Amino acid sequence: MTDGYLAVARSIQIVELAQLGADRRRMAEALPVRSLHSNKIMHRDVGDLPEKPDFRIAMRNIPTGQPSARQRELDFRSRPQRRDRGRPMLTKTNAPVHDRAGTETKQRYQSGFGNEFATESLPGALPVGRNSPQRCAYGLYAEQLSGAAFTAPRSENRRSWLYRIRPAVTHKPFQQIPNGSFVGTFDVPPPPHQLRWNPLRYPDASIDFVDGIVTMAGNEACGIHMYAATASMVDRYFYDADGELLIVPQEGRLRLATELGVLDVEPQEIAVIPRGVRFGVELPDWRARGYICENYGSLFRLPDLGVIGSNGLANPRDFLTPVAAYEDRDVRSELVAKFKGQLWTAEMDHCPLDVVAWHGNYAPYKYDLRRFNTIGSISFDHPDPSIFLVLQSRSAIAGVDNIDFVIFPPRILSMEDTFRPPWYHRNIASEFMGLIHGEYDAKAEGFVPGGASLHNCMTGHGPDADTFEKASAADTSKPHYIRDTMAFMFETAEVIRPTEYALHTSELQRDYANCWQGLQRHFDPSKP
Ligand SMILES: [Fe+2]
Repeated sequence: MTDGYLAVARSIQIVELAQLGADRRRMAEALPVRSLHSNKIMHRDVGDLPEKPDFRIAMRNIPTGQPSARQRELDFRSRPQRRDRGRPMLTKTNAPVHDRAGTETKQRYQSGFGNEFATESLPGALPVGRNSPQRCAYGLYAEQLSGAAFTAPRSENRRSWLYRIRPAVTHKPFQQIPNGSFVGTFDVPPPPHQLRWNPLRYPDASIDFVDGIVTMAGNEACGIHMYAATASMVDRYFYDADGELLIVPQEGRLRLATELGVLDVEPQEIAVIPRGVRFGVELPDWRARGYICENYGSLFRLPDLGVIGSNGLANPRDFLTPVAAYEDRDVRSELVAKFKGQLWTAEMDHCPLDVVAWHGNYAPYKYDLRRFNTIGSISFDHPDPSIFLVLQSRSAIAGVDNIDFVIFPPRILSMEDTFRPPWYHRNIASEFMGLIHGEYDAKAEGFVPGGASLHNCMTGHGPDADTFEKASAADTSKPHYIRDTMAFMFETAEVIRPTEYALHTSELQRDYANCWQGLQRHFDPSKP
């Protein structure tokens, strides 16, 4: 993509329109041209990412007096279990991604974690030497977005200055809307036993990212959600005032069009949208599902490395923040907010993604989990799973995190005379796990990509019976290569409370505990 302004003025190309509903077809005909502009970057640029598959457009339903998309989704989720009936995934490796006007787009990023970035999509849009000049270039408004207290220590202080066509205040009053399956209260008594779920089913209806969010669990530190979406958000935007969003795609790519630029993320990548940042989600592959950790506490940060040294685990240079990109469109839009656990909606007369330039250290970012530098034992035993820590949200108590985001990536197990899978354990912390890709080495079956498990405070867990038998007999003089896997864990200091939905959905594996019932007694006091 070339630098500078690129006006897109072609009609919208609707791909495979026949697969869309009639109401979406009507909306497609009425849609204005959307243009995402190319960007001028003032910060170090790490170059384009590899090309992506086709960008397919799916439209959100128009209100027609029929039940809302959210209501249809709730109805759907209350029906008996039925396996995915949606269209197959459209994944064409190395095929390009197109914007709504059919122009091939590849996003550009700035490298580094929590850097002081500076980026403008029109030359001279960023003021020099001050943040709030009397008159901004191009007639823009200056607006500060603070993600930390004004007086937070410099090392913790996060804020960005945005230079935009209209300030964020220009919207109609908010009105509360039903939460549906996206909730922020966790008041169901949590059971102490192990829980595991099948993947979230795709809805039959056209459901966008926000309406496709289903809250699985949560506590004082975080909300844990899953999403299954079948439509892009069109002239609809969302922000979360309750926390920052760590998004973990499991299937299908996401194009996250934010106020501060555009992120393209795919499974085995993650994205973090800061608290308050407005964004829309497009689905290049028609449908997508994954996991979300809504962090109510301190912002995610990279952990200290201690005796590991100055390199290793997730390296700062691999975190990518978008360059500025704006949409200059006066079009009726909907802004959905999550505020104190409730959902609210407000009407706007323009697209809120109108930030032409910005600078600061409060911005969305993405990270490719495949770039994680995995460290482990090269003698015997293996370290605690904190060795796989990608991001942490610290609490006021040193060493006790509100949330740890941990992954279990491909790795080589070379420890000798060692039971190599994760050992049996009980923790004071609570663990919500998901599987993005492949198999998890502690479970021979039942924990499938897109599924989830919850092992709460002091709940015993570990390898299932089959895994124990195999690992106990394995030849540990030879290394074992785990090539094809990517699991993760949201670990919190507080008990994780499942929602009513999570405890009663047909996706709950009510026979989960049986995977340990086959563990045999091996004790023989005569054989030391
Ligand atoms: Fe565990």
